[in-house]
Amino acid sequence: MKYSSILTILSGTLASAAYPGDIVQYWVDQSAILVNGTVIGGLQSPPSGWFEAIVQGAVYLSADQSHNESLAFQQLAVSHAAHNTLIWAFHATQLYSTINSKLRAILPAIGLDPTSTSGLKAVEIGRQASRKVVTARADDGINNFVDYVQQPALPGVYQATPGGQPIPDTPQAQFIWPFAGIGDIKRFRAPPPPSVNSSEYEGFLNYVKAQGMRRSAVRTAHDTETAYFWKESQPIMSNRLATAIIGNSLATDVRASAKIYAQLNYALSNAAIATWDSKYFYNAWRPVTAIRHPTIFLASGTSVTNTTWEPLLIPTPNHQDYLSTHAAFAGAAAAVLRAYNNGSDVVDVTISSNVTLDNVGVVSRRVISLSEMAKDVGDSRVFGGIHFNFSCEQGVKTGDWVARETLKNFDEKWMDF
Ligand SMILES: *[C@@H]1O[C@H](CO)[C@@H](O)[C@H](O)[C@H]1NC(C)=O
Ligand SMILES: *[C@@H]1O[C@H](CO)[C@@H](O)[C@H](O)[C@H]1NC(C)=O
Ligand SMILES: *[C@@H]1O[C@H](CO)[C@@H](O)[C@H](O)[C@H]1NC(C)=O
Ligand SMILES: *[C@@H]1O[C@H](CO)[C@@H](O)[C@H](O)[C@H]1NC(C)=O
Ligand SMILES: *[C@@H]1O[C@H](CO)[C@@H](O)[C@H](O)[C@H]1NC(C)=O
Ligand SMILES: *[C@@H]1O[C@H](CO)[C@@H](O)[C@H](O)[C@H]1NC(C)=O
Ligand SMILES: *[C@@H]1O[C@H](CO)[C@@H](O)[C@H](O)[C@H]1NC(C)=O
Repeated sequence: MKYSSILTILSGTLASAAYPGDIVQYWVDQSAILVNGTVIGGLQSPPSGWFEAIVQGAVYLSADQSHNESLAFQQLAVSHAAHNTLIWAFHATQLYSTINSKLRAILPAIGLDPTSTSGLKAVEIGRQASRKVVTARADDGINNFVDYVQQPALPGVYQATPGGQPIPDTPQAQFIWPFAGIGDIKRFRAPPPPSVNSSEYEGFLNYVKAQGMRRSAVRTAHDTETAYFWKESQPIMSNRLATAIIGNSLATDVRASAKIYAQLNYALSNAAIATWDSKYFYNAWRPVTAIRHPTIFLASGTSVTNTTWEPLLIPTPNHQDYLSTHAAFAGAAAAVLRAYNNGSDVVDVTISSNVTLDNVGVVSRRVISLSEMAKDVGDSRVFGGIHFNFSCEQGVKTGDWVARETLKNFDEKWMDF
């Protein structure tokens, strides 16, 4: 081999040096760790889906605008888009040096000098993508003050949950603009929940009272594990599930990877906003409030009162029962991942949760069906004693519907940040 062709091969190798993993997944993971580092147990529900949608919108925009460039260039552009957007989303937490360290850690692997001519172009594409998205989202409703007026403690009416704040979480989240222009979120409002004095309600109440009690004698060990396994922030679990399914298959197709994670996180965020609309519209009480209620309200005249009853998962989240946002996140994730999977419900992956609650270590589970996964997430909230069945069943349906609408709109309207 001639000296000159060796040089050509060498320089070719250098030019194509890039991070061997999937750069989009790298930043998805960093986003998840930041949530943990900010508030152990996760951000409040709608913001936890909200910020990831914004980050992935900027990541997809930067990937789209750099896709004709080298892999390293695309990775550098995406990394700056993710970095700048995370700094914006976490501004109030002042995690600047933590977020900076995530970027510093990946730069050597990418291998493109950010101060070179090409590197400067990549950085600029990333910065501009972030600027465009955060400017568009700067006044998207999440900052607004929306007052909540406490309602009388009548049967069925939401009351502060034990250990919770006096006022339910983020009343403004029902008004956040949805992603990908899916229109007025109220069109996804759920049908009314069963009324507290209907005969079916008694079945639901007795079920969660027995199955969801902290030291329940009737809940199986498997169901207890289910409650703990899915306890973690669902946007984070859903992204981890996506990564388990996608693996490294899109590592060299940054735009395709960015697209699936943008679709997923837009759908998750939209699903959360839709559940918040139903939560504030129906203002329904949680199982713990129903079971501790001092007077008889069931149609049969039976008393369910146990004023010291506690759920397995403590505390009960600080917002209304109907709908379960956890279940909606799972229904939305299942819909997006099914679409990615060419319409097939069948997967075969093992994922772990990071829950440290009640000294339960890391739990791993095999997922072989996306729809069973979504049902399982819903059931986990009943076994955890924090939701009624019907809130979880409807949550999965609403999440699925919102996600399918998000996907339908995505190609045309993903830039409606
Ligand atoms: C989950 O826990 C592992 C250690 O068990 C840690 O490396 C990882 O960063 C955690 N992930 C999140 C999102 O906190
Ligand atoms: C990629 O496209 C952009 C915008 O069209 C252009 O400015 C740039 O030169 C292209 N890069 C390559 C390597 O062709
Ligand atoms: C059930 O409760 C609603 C109000 O929550 C009341 O209007 C209705 O009359 C009640 N029905 C029965 C059968 O008690
Ligand atoms: C609640 O859900 C569980 C688990 O899916 C089911 O076994 C049970 O029959 C349901 N209970 C009611 C009252 O619908
Ligand atoms: C009431 O709830 C407490 C706390 O969960 C439990 O220990 C107790 O056994 C319950 N009482 C009855 C009568 O079920
Ligand atoms: C979906 O189908 C297309 C076309 O046959 C194929 O290229 C792609 O790999 C499939 N995706 C998955 C996740 O199986
Ligand atoms: C948070 O991070 C720590 C340290 O990596 C890990 O042990 C823990 O499991 C994480 N918790 C959650 C809820 O992700």
